[in-house]
Amino acid sequence: MAASFVIRQATSADAETLARLRYEFRIMLDPPVESVDAFISRCTTWITGHLGAGGSWCCWIAEHSGTAIGMIWLSLLEKIPNPVGELEAYGYITNFYVQTDHRGSGVSRRLLAAAIEECDRRHVFSTILWPTPTSRPLYARHGFAAPRTIMERRADAKLHQLG
Ligand SMILES: CC(C)(COP(=O)(O)OP(=O)(O)OC[C@H]1O[C@@H](n2cnc3c(N)ncnc32)[C@H](O)[C@@H]1OP(=O)(O)O)[C@@H](O)C(=O)NCCC(=O)NCCS
Repeated sequence: MAASFVIRQATSADAETLARLRYEFRIMLDPPVESVDAFISRCTTWITGHLGAGGSWCCWIAEHSGTAIGMIWLSLLEKIPNPVGELEAYGYITNFYVQTDHRGSGVSRRLLAAAIEECDRRHVFSTILWPTPTSRPLYARHGFAAPRTIMERRADAKLHQLG
Protein backbone atom coordinates (compact mmCIF):
# COMPACT_ATOMS: atom_id res chain seq x y z
CA MET A 1 0.00 0.00 0.00
CA ALA A 2 2.73 2.49 1.02
CA ALA A 3 4.30 2.47 -2.47
CA SER A 4 1.00 3.26 -4.21
CA PHE A 5 0.26 6.58 -2.55
CA VAL A 6 1.97 9.87 -3.10
CA ILE A 7 2.10 12.91 -0.80
CA ARG A 8 2.65 16.22 -2.54
CA GLN A 9 2.19 19.92 -1.81
CA ALA A 10 -1.14 21.07 -3.22
CA THR A 11 -1.61 24.11 -5.45
CA SER A 12 -4.60 26.24 -6.41
CA ALA A 13 -5.06 23.85 -9.35
CA ASP A 14 -6.25 21.30 -6.77
CA ALA A 15 -8.89 23.70 -5.40
CA GLU A 16 -12.03 21.85 -6.47
CA THR A 17 -10.64 18.45 -5.46
CA LEU A 18 -9.74 19.85 -2.03
CA ALA A 19 -13.15 21.49 -1.69
CA ARG A 20 -14.82 18.12 -2.32
CA LEU A 21 -12.60 16.43 0.29
CA ARG A 22 -13.46 19.25 2.70
CA TYR A 23 -17.21 18.74 2.18
CA GLU A 24 -16.84 14.95 2.53
CA PHE A 25 -14.90 15.37 5.79
CA ARG A 26 -17.04 18.06 7.48
CA ILE A 27 -20.45 16.51 6.82
CA MET A 28 -19.14 13.44 8.71
CA LEU A 29 -19.03 15.59 11.86
CA ASP A 30 -22.07 17.94 11.42
CA PRO A 31 -25.07 18.21 9.04
CA PRO A 32 -24.56 20.65 6.14
CA VAL A 33 -26.46 23.97 6.07
CA GLU A 34 -25.84 24.68 2.36
CA SER A 35 -26.11 22.63 -0.84
CA VAL A 36 -23.08 20.65 -1.95
CA ASP A 37 -22.85 22.68 -5.16
CA ALA A 38 -23.02 26.01 -3.31
CA PHE A 39 -20.33 24.88 -0.87
CA ILE A 40 -18.02 23.43 -3.52
CA SER A 41 -18.23 26.63 -5.53
CA ARG A 42 -17.64 28.86 -2.47
CA CYS A 43 -14.84 26.70 -1.09
CA THR A 44 -13.12 26.28 -4.47
CA THR A 45 -13.00 30.06 -4.84
CA TRP A 46 -11.61 30.42 -1.31
CA ILE A 47 -8.91 27.80 -1.85
CA THR A 48 -7.94 29.30 -5.23
CA GLY A 49 -7.47 32.64 -3.50
CA HIS A 50 -5.58 31.31 -0.47
CA LEU A 51 -3.37 28.49 -1.70
CA GLY A 52 -1.06 30.55 -3.81
CA ALA A 53 2.53 31.67 -3.53
CA GLY A 54 3.11 34.16 -0.73
CA GLY A 55 -0.07 33.17 1.14
CA SER A 56 -0.07 31.96 4.73
CA TRP A 57 -1.78 28.65 3.86
CA CYS A 58 -0.05 25.42 2.79
CA CYS A 59 -1.72 22.10 2.01
CA TRP A 60 -0.49 18.56 1.34
CA ILE A 61 -2.60 16.15 -0.62
CA ALA A 62 -2.36 12.37 -0.61
CA GLU A 63 -3.09 10.53 -3.86
CA HIS A 64 -3.62 6.85 -4.49
CA SER A 65 -3.16 5.87 -8.16
CA GLY A 66 -3.63 9.53 -9.08
CA THR A 67 -6.84 10.01 -7.07
CA ALA A 68 -6.99 12.33 -4.02
CA ILE A 69 -7.55 10.35 -0.80
CA GLY A 70 -6.48 12.77 1.94
CA MET A 71 -5.14 16.17 2.92
CA ILE A 72 -3.70 18.28 5.70
CA TRP A 73 -3.54 22.07 5.97
CA LEU A 74 -1.16 24.44 7.73
CA SER A 75 -1.58 28.17 8.30
CA LEU A 76 1.39 30.22 9.40
CA LEU A 77 0.80 33.16 11.72
CA GLU A 78 3.54 35.78 11.94
CA LYS A 79 4.68 36.96 15.39
CA ILE A 80 5.98 40.50 15.94
CA PRO A 81 9.81 40.54 15.79
CA ASN A 82 11.50 40.13 19.16
CA PRO A 83 15.10 40.95 20.22
CA VAL A 84 15.43 37.86 22.44
CA GLY A 85 15.94 35.20 19.82
CA GLU A 86 12.50 33.61 20.16
CA LEU A 87 11.18 32.08 16.93
CA GLU A 88 8.79 34.45 15.17
CA ALA A 89 5.95 32.33 13.81
CA TYR A 90 3.03 30.20 14.98
CA GLY A 91 1.50 27.32 13.06
CA TYR A 92 -2.11 26.11 12.90
CA ILE A 93 -2.76 22.59 11.58
CA THR A 94 -6.30 21.84 10.40
CA ASN A 95 -8.50 20.02 7.86
CA PHE A 96 -6.61 16.76 8.36
CA TYR A 97 -8.58 14.04 6.63
CA VAL A 98 -7.93 10.62 5.08
CA GLN A 99 -10.76 8.78 3.32
CA THR A 100 -12.02 5.80 5.32
CA ASP A 101 -10.84 3.19 2.79
CA HIS A 102 -7.26 4.44 3.15
CA ARG A 103 -6.98 4.72 6.91
CA GLY A 104 -4.49 2.73 8.94
CA SER A 105 -2.13 2.65 5.94
CA GLY A 106 0.46 5.21 6.97
CA VAL A 107 -1.02 7.97 4.79
CA SER A 108 -1.93 10.07 7.86
CA ARG A 109 1.55 9.71 9.36
CA ARG A 110 3.11 10.94 6.12
CA LEU A 111 0.70 13.88 5.83
CA LEU A 112 1.25 14.97 9.44
CA ALA A 113 5.01 14.58 9.03
CA ALA A 114 4.94 16.83 5.94
CA ALA A 115 3.13 19.60 7.86
CA ILE A 116 5.46 19.27 10.86
CA GLU A 117 8.55 19.36 8.61
CA GLU A 118 7.25 22.61 7.12
CA CYS A 119 6.79 24.07 10.61
CA ASP A 120 10.38 23.21 11.45
CA ARG A 121 11.61 24.54 8.10
CA ARG A 122 9.78 27.82 8.77
CA HIS A 123 11.12 28.06 12.33
CA VAL A 124 7.69 27.90 13.91
CA PHE A 125 7.70 28.53 17.67
CA SER A 126 4.44 26.72 18.50
CA THR A 127 1.93 24.81 16.38
CA ILE A 128 -1.66 24.50 17.56
CA LEU A 129 -4.66 22.42 16.50
CA TRP A 130 -8.08 21.41 17.76
CA PRO A 131 -8.10 17.60 17.82
CA THR A 132 -11.15 15.37 17.81
CA PRO A 133 -11.09 13.13 20.90
CA THR A 134 -10.27 10.12 18.66
CA SER A 135 -7.36 11.83 16.91
CA ARG A 136 -5.53 12.94 20.09
CA PRO A 137 -3.29 9.82 20.36
CA LEU A 138 -2.10 10.35 16.77
CA TYR A 139 -1.10 13.96 17.49
CA ALA A 140 0.48 12.95 20.82
CA ARG A 141 2.69 10.46 18.94
CA HIS A 142 3.88 13.40 16.80
CA GLY A 143 4.88 15.60 19.72
CA PHE A 144 1.67 17.50 20.44
CA ALA A 145 0.58 17.90 24.05
CA ALA A 146 -2.06 19.75 26.09
CA PRO A 147 -1.06 23.45 26.08
CA ARG A 148 0.82 24.93 29.05
CA THR A 149 0.13 28.58 28.40
CA ILE A 150 -2.43 29.31 25.70
CA MET A 151 -5.89 30.69 26.61
CA GLU A 152 -8.94 30.59 24.33
CA ARG A 153 -12.08 32.67 24.02
CA ARG A 154 -14.84 31.09 22.00
CA ALA A 155 -17.57 32.89 20.13
CA ASP A 156 -20.10 31.36 22.53
CA ALA A 157 -18.17 32.86 25.45
CA LYS A 158 -21.40 34.20 26.97
CA LEU A 159 -22.86 30.67 27.15
CA HIS A 160 -19.52 29.46 28.47
CA GLN A 161 -19.64 32.10 31.24
CA LEU A 162 -23.19 31.06 32.16
CA GLY A 163 -22.12 27.39 31.98
C1 LIG B 1 -7.34 11.50 11.64
C2 LIG B 1 -7.04 10.60 10.48
C3 LIG B 1 -6.48 11.43 9.34
C4 LIG B 1 -5.99 9.57 10.92
O1 LIG B 1 -5.74 8.70 9.83
P1 LIG B 1 -5.72 7.11 10.10
O2 LIG B 1 -5.28 6.49 8.88
O3 LIG B 1 -7.00 6.73 10.68
O4 LIG B 1 -4.63 7.05 11.25
P2 LIG B 1 -3.50 5.96 11.53
O5 LIG B 1 -4.04 4.61 11.33
O6 LIG B 1 -2.26 6.35 10.82
O7 LIG B 1 -3.24 6.27 13.05
C5 LIG B 1 -4.20 5.84 13.97
C6 LIG B 1 -4.53 7.00 14.89
O8 LIG B 1 -5.39 7.89 14.19
C7 LIG B 1 -6.40 8.34 15.05
N1 LIG B 1 -7.67 7.93 14.48
C8 LIG B 1 -8.03 6.70 14.07
N2 LIG B 1 -9.30 6.73 13.62
C9 LIG B 1 -9.71 8.00 13.71
C10 LIG B 1 -10.93 8.68 13.39
N3 LIG B 1 -11.97 8.08 12.88
N4 LIG B 1 -10.99 10.00 13.61
C11 LIG B 1 -9.96 10.66 14.12
N5 LIG B 1 -8.78 10.07 14.46
C12 LIG B 1 -8.67 8.77 14.26
C13 LIG B 1 -6.17 7.73 16.41
O9 LIG B 1 -5.44 8.63 17.15
C14 LIG B 1 -5.33 6.54 16.08
O10 LIG B 1 -4.41 6.26 17.08
P3 LIG B 1 -4.73 4.99 18.02
O11 LIG B 1 -4.84 3.82 17.09
O12 LIG B 1 -3.59 4.94 18.97
O13 LIG B 1 -6.03 5.35 18.69
C15 LIG B 1 -8.29 9.84 9.98
O14 LIG B 1 -8.68 8.94 10.98
C16 LIG B 1 -9.44 10.76 9.64
O15 LIG B 1 -9.48 11.34 8.54
N6 LIG B 1 -10.41 10.91 10.56
C17 LIG B 1 -11.59 11.75 10.34
C18 LIG B 1 -11.24 13.21 10.29
C19 LIG B 1 -10.59 13.67 11.58
O16 LIG B 1 -11.02 13.38 12.67
N7 LIG B 1 -9.48 14.43 11.40
C20 LIG B 1 -8.75 14.97 12.54
C21 LIG B 1 -9.39 16.18 12.95
S1 LIG B 1 -8.50 16.95 14.26
